[in-house]
Amino acid sequence: MDIEKVFHMVGGNGETSYAANSSLQKRALDMVKHIATESIVDLYLATTPQKMAIADLGCSSGPNTLSVIGDIIDAIDRARRRNFMVTTTNRTTEIQVFLNDLPSNDFNSIFLAWPDFCKEKLISSGSSKCNGRNDRSHPPFVSIAGVPGSFYGRLFPSDTLHFIHSSFSLHWLSRVPPAIYDQEGKSINKGKIYISEASPPLVSEAYLMQFQEDFSLFLRSRSLELKSGGRMVLTLLGRTGPHHTHSANSLLWELLSRSFAILVSQGDIDEEKLNSYEIHFYAPSKEEIDDEVRKEGSFAIDRLELFEIESNMNKSKSNGSTATYGTTVATSVRAIQESLIRHHFGEHIVDDLFGIYGKLIDEETAKGEIRPISFIVALRKKV
Ligand SMILES: C[S@@+](CC[C@H](N)C(=O)[O-])C[C@H]1O[C@@H](n2cnc3c(N)ncnc32)[C@H](O)[C@@H]1O
Repeated sequence: MDIEKVFHMVGGNGETSYAANSSLQKRALDMVKHIATESIVDLYLATTPQKMAIADLGCSSGPNTLSVIGDIIDAIDRARRRNFMVTTTNRTTEIQVFLNDLPSNDFNSIFLAWPDFCKEKLISSGSSKCNGRNDRSHPPFVSIAGVPGSFYGRLFPSDTLHFIHSSFSLHWLSRVPPAIYDQEGKSINKGKIYISEASPPLVSEAYLMQFQEDFSLFLRSRSLELKSGGRMVLTLLGRTGPHHTHSANSLLWELLSRSFAILVSQGDIDEEKLNSYEIHFYAPSKEEIDDEVRKEGSFAIDRLELFEIESNMNKSKSNGSTATYGTTVATSVRAIQESLIRHHFGEHIVDDLFGIYGKLIDEETAKGEIRPISFIVALRKKV
């Protein structure tokens, strides 16, 4: 399967869209937003640029995309005002925002939401003039552009970006590791879709090798595109310690494997189809992230921190949602995986699969909370 062509989040604003099913990612982003803000403010105060180019890689579509951009713009504006107190140089900042994702991402729905977003945030842009009402005395001028393509490779001209952000995207590999297929092209990870207790050791080795290859290519590409001293803040799913199968992220894939197996036992999926389905995902440990950054050598690590996304259902109930945690996770994973599952198995299994998956997660949650692990990494390009 050509992942770059097939993989995309469910677009639009419908019931199964990523836009409607990304509240868990939003909750996580809110938990660590201060780290991205600090990095931008620090960068701004060190260089006081009048023009800034920033990029969000793996932007997807839906409320998270513009919320991230809004937070970055607010941080730049706050830094500009702080700088004004010191230097009395009060200039409007011009910001070029690049939104990157794979070509089949629903860029259109972001651009449709952009003018209203600018009005609400008091941002000047091509179609929205803001004359400095309220606290935006010198409203930033912001221009937005889409950049389709894989972030595993070059996306921008060299030395053009000040700040790069990426959230919940870098645990997606460029491909399923080729080393998990035998000479006949059959997966050695039969019946499983990710590293599991039953997987031969070669499987986790193959996934680690693919992560190392991809992440170092990502770092190398970004180091060329960032200006000297530029910053990059990355949030991605991960695991604690060396064992893959002890993590909540791995448990969630194991439960999806079991949901597939139930459909096989019901005769809804051919076993061979399941045996040839693997996910292009990897949850690295803190050491694995740290090792790649050091080996690649272009970046200094300002922060590398682990955080847990709560599965606290009171939070989702207080949002007015009556969905169980299982349903919330299942609809969120569906919005991410549906394009690949439809392509491989056909559309007919999708509702049943995610119905079963939601129930299995709820059964597991009744035994103990599932708390997926994430890392936030703040990097600075070495001068
Ligand atoms: C789960 S979404 C995260 C969206 C958003 N950043 C957020 O935090 O809610 C992951 C996004 O990464 C994108 N993605 C995955 N691999 C990519 C690649 N190689 N190049 C560019 N985007 C990629 C996916 O298409 C998807 O839109």
